[in-house]
Amino acid sequence: MRHLVTLDDLSNYEIEQIFRLAAGMQSQLDTWAGICRSKLLATLFYEPSTRTRLSFESAMERLNGGTLGFADPGATSTTKGETLADTARMVTNYADIIVVRHNLAGSARVMAKYANIPVINGGDGSHTHPTQALTDLYTIIRRKEKVEGLSVGICGDLRYGRAAHSFALSVARFGGKLVHIAPEGLQMPPWVLTRLDQIHGQKPIEVETFQEVIDTLDVIYVNRLQEERLPPTVDIQEVRGSYLLNSAVMKNAKPDSMIMHPLPRVNELSYELDDDPRAAYFEQSANAVPIRMALISSLMGLEQLILTQPPQRVISKSVDQCQNTNCITNHETYLDLERETFNGTAKVNVCAYCGTLDE
Ligand code: NCD
Repeated sequence: MRHLVTLDDLSNYEIEQIFRLAAGMQSQLDTWAGICRSKLLATLFYEPSTRTRLSFESAMERLNGGTLGFADPGATSTTKGETLADTARMVTNYADIIVVRHNLAGSARVMAKYANIPVINGGDGSHTHPTQALTDLYTIIRRKEKVEGLSVGICGDLRYGRAAHSFALSVARFGGKLVHIAPEGLQMPPWVLTRLDQIHGQKPIEVETFQEVIDTLDVIYVNRLQEERLPPTVDIQEVRGSYLLNSAVMKNAKPDSMIMHPLPRVNELSYELDDDPRAAYFEQSANAVPIRMALISSLMGLEQLILTQPPQRVISKSVDQCQNTNCITNHETYLDLERETFNGTAKVNVCAYCGTLDE
């Protein structure tokens, strides 16, 4: 059974195959339209969503499959204390594939452990958002033909933004050069920086403002401030509005650069850029549908030769509690504690659920 919990679940070859299938589906939908007939996608959304849920539903219905699920966990047995494990076991009997979004890191991994059907992570807390990263890479490749060698600036709340984490790791995997632009206190967390360094051999340039690097960037990827995830130690008033991409900043950017944003935007990306030919954010949200169509059909095994060999992972049992209070293992206590080991230039141990580094 293949799942997409993080992008570590796919090889680069498989990602390229998914992009190929998505491009085919995008240009000639009729060829694939019936592929999910009589199949059901369960959308389990414990956190708010517009694009992710609707584009998954649109993807499934365009393949003639059906959808069921919830967008308000308050109306489900979660309020009675039902665990993710039991919900996963239940939904296995009601659907053929699951997409789950949850406020706790590692939650999609729990679903994947207990469901007997493929599980896709639609965003787990401030950890990862792998399907957004696939959409992002696909959008870059459609405009620029490749990621390798591009200078990719990721700006904003890099600490708590899950889309930023998955995007950075996937850009590095495909040979893009990262520049991180973040206000003090909102820089990329150590677990992402360690992976970039140990697995991809990359130490990103880190600056605080656009002005320092804007003229060097091929891709400018903006993220909103994740206000709902900020701990009380961060002064929201101080960081709110501390970064803004607008026409004045873009005057100094390359004429063929591209502006990206996972959306929703709040006040970090000016509306005055919407008609700039470099703006690619609405294209990005449109590309979410063919990417999710390709993913659903590949994970359900309806398209052969897309998913070949799962990447090898080194997982072992652990007795130590994860240090991340937002990790699912600190909330659902029946879970086995597990760690994953990477062998880069140094041996790195992380929580297998949320990626947090062992202390
Ligand atoms: C992102 C998310 O939910 O992580 N949105 C999305 O899925 N396109 C980004 C965000 O909320 O900032």
